Amino acid sequence: MKGIILSGGLGTRLLPLTKITSKQLLPIYNRPMIYYPLNTLAKAGIKEILIIVSPDRAGDYLNLLGSGKQWGLKFTYEIQDKPAGLPQAFVIGENFIGKEDVVMILGDNIFEDDLSEEIKSFKGGAKLFAKKVPDPERFGVVKFDANFKAEKIVEKPKEFLSDYALTGLYVYDNRVIEVAKNCKPSARGEFEITDLHNWYLEHNEVEIAVVEGEWLDAGTFESLYKAQTLAKEKLDSKMVI
Ligand code: DAU
Repeated sequence: MKGIILSGGLGTRLLPLTKITSKQLLPIYNRPMIYYPLNTLAKAGIKEILIIVSPDRAGDYLNLLGSGKQWGLKFTYEIQDKPAGLPQAFVIGENFIGKEDVVMILGDNIFEDDLSEEIKSFKGGAKLFAKKVPDPERFGVVKFDANFKAEKIVEKPKEFLSDYALTGLYVYDNRVIEVAKNCKPSARGEFEITDLHNWYLEHNEVEIAVVEGEWLDAGTFESLYKAQTLAKEKLDSKMVI
């Protein structure tokens, strides 16, 4: 299985912190933010990782992470010219992914849990990771039926649908490349990851794992602040990188 860390975007919600650097390079306790998603993939035994970055920050990532050889990993870098949406990662990464399955994690997503067994046990379709949150309107959200099977997935629902957010960790089989290529921009002009989930949902091929431990999308000042404590108190001793 190949790995992707999507680490582009403008980080406008964190200005002025992101005026001279990428959000995903900001410090979280004693490591740059991207080390946390990197650990999630490395622990799951993912060795070949594509890091997608914005054009003006590419040199910083290369200086920081290099080839990955120092950790027994192999990094490839690609540039996303504009942050037009998460599904673009699978189009940009088409050659890198080749014929394999792929796990993607967002560069600002920090998980307390070791999710390696969940990633390794992937058998096809789409495997998504949900977490109960107090502010579901900020996220992609999944509604379960009576048997706890995914029934409906909506991006940032305006009306309450469920309090299970879909985290920024996704495992898909190889068909995701074609599904992403056929994706159309939404009303806000972006390609939406939820459209990929819904394609798999229509084919009845979505599996959802519920995340027990803490999960943060460190894209706001509040979550960035919380991430510092999580990293210091719960993650530092469990990091492999
Ligand atoms: O964090 C989980 C959430 O991530 C999911 O619940 C949502 O379904 C998903 O759409 C996404 O929502 P966000 O509002 O967090 O998306 P955002 O546009 O902020 O992008 C997430 C990260 O991905 C961010 O760190 C920047 C990066 N990114 C984003 C876009 C749109 C890119 O590198 N390229 C892009 O084109």
